Amino acid sequence: MSFKSKMAKLTDIRENKIPGSYQMIGDIMLLKLGKIHDAQKIKLADTVLKEFPYVKTVCEIKGVGGEFREPVAKKLAGNGTETIHKENGILYRIDVSHLMFSKGNLNERKRLIEEIRQGETIVDMFAGIGYFSLGVAKFSNAKNVIAIEKNTKAYNALIENIQLNKLHNISAILGDCRIAAKSMPNSADRVIMGYFPQTENFLPAAIFMLKPKGTINFHNTYNKRELWKKPIQDVEEICKRMECSFKIANKKKVKSYAPNVWHVVMDLEIVKK
Ligand SMILES: C[S@@+](CC[C@H](N)C(=O)[O-])C[C@H]1O[C@@H](n2cnc3c(N)ncnc32)[C@H](O)[C@@H]1O
Repeated sequence: MSFKSKMAKLTDIRENKIPGSYQMIGDIMLLKLGKIHDAQKIKLADTVLKEFPYVKTVCEIKGVGGEFREPVAKKLAGNGTETIHKENGILYRIDVSHLMFSKGNLNERKRLIEEIRQGETIVDMFAGIGYFSLGVAKFSNAKNVIAIEKNTKAYNALIENIQLNKLHNISAILGDCRIAAKSMPNSADRVIMGYFPQTENFLPAAIFMLKPKGTINFHNTYNKRELWKKPIQDVEEICKRMECSFKIANKKKVKSYAPNVWHVVMDLEIVKK
């Protein structure tokens, strides 16, 4: 029986009011709920806790937004909102009430590790709790990773996660990546730009940090009508201004982000003049 049908049967909430799927982060279940009364939400959450012993907390999630990509999440039942999530051999300590975790980027996190060449120095401009940085430091051939994060809560979690995974080849910087970039000219073989929207605004800082030849993993969101003309134009314009040439080594859709909007990534091979 599906989650939806099972919960409808046990709670007497109409089946079309119950989500067809849910997200598990560690032992926390995140549910996107439509228009149902608060009392029904609590009943649903309490029933989940009884039926699924591995779930310790149930939270309602209403989306992710703002500069820090913070979730709008509320605990409905259970213990705290902090957990340890394991993915691809990496442990992520996370408080889901104020930090996001996108399972939709799982394949991209794996792919990136394979792309990295022996001895690379890597700058992760939007490190968050270490979504990309931790796996890259642990499993790739990189020499070292410099992880920059502006949100203090995410930065603190990043520091904890570096220790939790016993990594010694990452250093973390708290601050705006455009400001941090100023003290790191021509120093990175690769810059990871795991952020959107309007990632192009940060591309000059990424190029500034690259060695004369290097790679940028450029993420962004675009309307499906804009693919791939607009993303390429965005890069062309900035590379012209920054006096460098580029080649697109790879471009792909990562996931659907909103109706008609794709989260995409382009691997840019940059050569500075
Ligand atoms: C949440 S992550 C994006 C998701 C991630 N790529 C993944 O794989 O799930 C983006 C991070 O960039 C941080 N951020 C936003 N603007 C920033 C800036 N100007 N400098 C440094 N970090 C920034 C946010 O606080 C957030 O933690």
